[in-house]
Parts: sequence; structure tokens; C-alpha cells
Amino acid sequence: MKNILAFFLLCSVTVSAQKFEGLALTPPMGWNSWNTFKTDISDKLVREIADDMVNSGMKDAGYTYIVLDDGWMAKERNRNGDLVPDPKKFPNGLKPVIDYVHAKGLKFGLYNCAGTQTCAGYPGTRGYEYQDARFYASLEIDYLKYDWCNTEGITAKEAYSTMSKALKVAGRPVIFSLCEWGDNQPWNWAKNIGQLWRISGDIYHCFDCIFDHGTWKDWGVTYIIDMHKDIRQFAGPGHWNDFDMMEVGNGMTVGEDRAHFSMWSMLASPLIAGNDLRNMSAETKAILTNKEVIAINQDSLGVQAYLYSQKDSVDTWIKPLSGNDVAICFLNRSKNPFTVSYDFGQHPVTDSVSKMNINFNSSLYKIRDVWMKKEMGNTSKLWSASVQGHDVVLLHLTMAKPPVKK
Ligand code: GLA
Repeated sequence: MKNILAFFLLCSVTVSAQKFEGLALTPPMGWNSWNTFKTDISDKLVREIADDMVNSGMKDAGYTYIVLDDGWMAKERNRNGDLVPDPKKFPNGLKPVIDYVHAKGLKFGLYNCAGTQTCAGYPGTRGYEYQDARFYASLEIDYLKYDWCNTEGITAKEAYSTMSKALKVAGRPVIFSLCEWGDNQPWNWAKNIGQLWRISGDIYHCFDCIFDHGTWKDWGVTYIIDMHKDIRQFAGPGHWNDFDMMEVGNGMTVGEDRAHFSMWSMLASPLIAGNDLRNMSAETKAILTNKEVIAINQDSLGVQAYLYSQKDSVDTWIKPLSGNDVAICFLNRSKNPFTVSYDFGQHPVTDSVSKMNINFNSSLYKIRDVWMKKEMGNTSKLWSASVQGHDVVLLHLTMAKPPVKK
């Protein structure tokens, strides 16, 4: 009887603990080719991006993964059914490029799709899951983004489960990034399958526009922020809501880029840069490498921010942090500046997800503006600041003294 029980216990453990554990205890950080380069990628590009990831200070700031998105393959599999890197883009195959990335102390990722073809028309994985997983393991990749085009007749949970199992069987620890755009509510079922799941269609490099392709749409930053209201409880260490690769440095204003980066940090989204690292402006670099903002994203508590209030043009977002710290982001959705006056005593932190409760009348906190990099007094006084149009003020609050016992 005991043996039978142990057997069933083992089976349930094996099935529920499918993905590689411990790989993304904080949101993954890296770079992905798609937003800037689409399928125009090459051996040379990857090497240059890896060099600049190191030289720009991005690696020091925490960016680790270089992910090649759609377009790295030849149009056909070989006669054994194996995927083939495009011989024009990667004349020596992928292994030397991946070795180069690894030698820089970085990690490497690839893209494929659960369907018969990728979104850009290259060979998809459907029916080749275990074979492709072995191919990735032989290349020693560390990350797989897995898309959802051309998937008629299959269900998302099963398809993503199969690939996750295949990766596990292949044996090389890989972050598994689900990209089915939130269509099948992966936050309800993907916790044990992958480390991150997209929650929206593709991002577009604008603050609050929609780019309509006719049969599908790309979404500006605020549309992605607003797309799903009630999924923050599904994010946490090892499993994240993915708000899509970033568009910082891809054409928005500096303030909009700052707002975008701040909100991705508050939302505990993976921070995957999508710009050309080889010619970043000083402003773009300063945004992407602001270590105090990144620390809010990478906080070990792993709690996604909640929307506390929306008043006039300004959202107030609150992110509970470890050590009873708190981040507060004032996001101005209007193009005009707005002066926020915030009486902390009137605005306690009460969070059902982290169970954090702070009453600023009995706990004094120090205020730091992480973009100005300046201390801004404490929570005992009315706090006031102008938030520029399409921009944020982002505060990190640290307890100044222990709570007063009543
Ligand atoms: C989909 C994904 C994008 C990108 C492209 C590649 O649209 O959502 O992030 O990977 O496919 O074709």
C-alpha cells in the first residue's frame, strides 16, 4: 500500500513539476532581435550585440539573455527533419555564435513556434517537439521563446506542455517563454510549464496608439498596461506576466521611454530590450541601465504592482518590495504636466497579494526619487511634485524607523 502511495505521489510530483525550476526567480533580463531587426539577423549582428551588451554596461546592469527571434532558420528542415540555421545569415551554423555569447558571460536564446510554421513562415515545431528540443540542447541554448502562429486544431495548454516536457527530457536547463498573446489565459495554467507568458499582442513603439494591421493590431505602451486588470496574483518568482519586449530607444520621447521602462519594472515584467544596442543614445542607455529602477523590477519578493488610483490624468501604482520597502509610480497619461500632491497618511498600502499593510501615520518612510537619484524627505509631510506629460515620477520608499506600537 505504502509503495502504491509513493508511486502515485511520485507521478503527481513529476507531472506538476515539469519545467526547470529556479531559472527565473526574478524577471528575466536580456535583449531580443525582433522589435528592431525582424528577420534581418546574422552571425555578425549577434556578435556585435553581445559586445555592446558588455561595453554599454547593460551586462553589469543585469541583462543576460541574447535571444534570436523569428528568421534564424532556413525555410526547410534537412532530410533528417532537423532544423537548419539559415546558411546565409549563419555561414558557420549557430554553435560558434552561441559559444561567442557564452564566452562573454552571457546566455543565449532562440525562437520557434508551436504551429506548423512560425509567424514569419519558417518551419514550426508541431510534431517535432522532442527532436527540436534535442537540437537546442546540442547547441547549448539557455532560453526558448515559443510562439503561437499556425496552430489550428491544437490546444495551447497541451502544446506548451509538450514542448516544456521535451525541453526537460533533453536535459539542458532552458527558460521557456510562452508567446500565445494571452489568448488562452496562460496565467491560469502555465505556472509549471514555463517561466514567463505574454499577456498581449505585439507591442508598438508609441505611448498610447494602436497600429492596426487589419486582421491584427499592435499595441502602444498604455494599451498593454491596461490589457488585463486581474492577473497580478499569478506573477511571482519563477513565473511572470510578460508585457512584451521593450521599445525603449525605438522612437518614443525620453519621457515616454522612461514611463515605459518604469512601468515594466513596476509590473515585474521581464526586461527584454528591443533596440539596437550598437548605437544607443546616452538617454536610452541611462534609462535601460538605471540600477535603482532595475532593482525595483528585480526585487526578490517578486510582486507585481497594483493600480491604487486613477485621478485626473495620473495613475498611482504601488509595488510592495522586500524588507517592507515600497515603490510608488505616478504615471501621467496626459501630454500636459500635472502636479501631484500626495498625503501619505491618507494613502495606506494594503495589498492582498503580498499581505503588506503600511499605515504611513504610524510608520515613517524615507522617500527617494530614483530618476532624479535624490532623497526627497519623508512621508510625514504632504509630498508634491510635477509629473511631466507622458512621463512618470518613480519613488522608492524605505522605512525610517520601526512602526510605533499602540
Ligand atoms: C509574433 C510574436 C512576436 C515575434 C513575431 C515573430 O508576432 O508575438 O513577438 O516573435 O511573432 O514572427
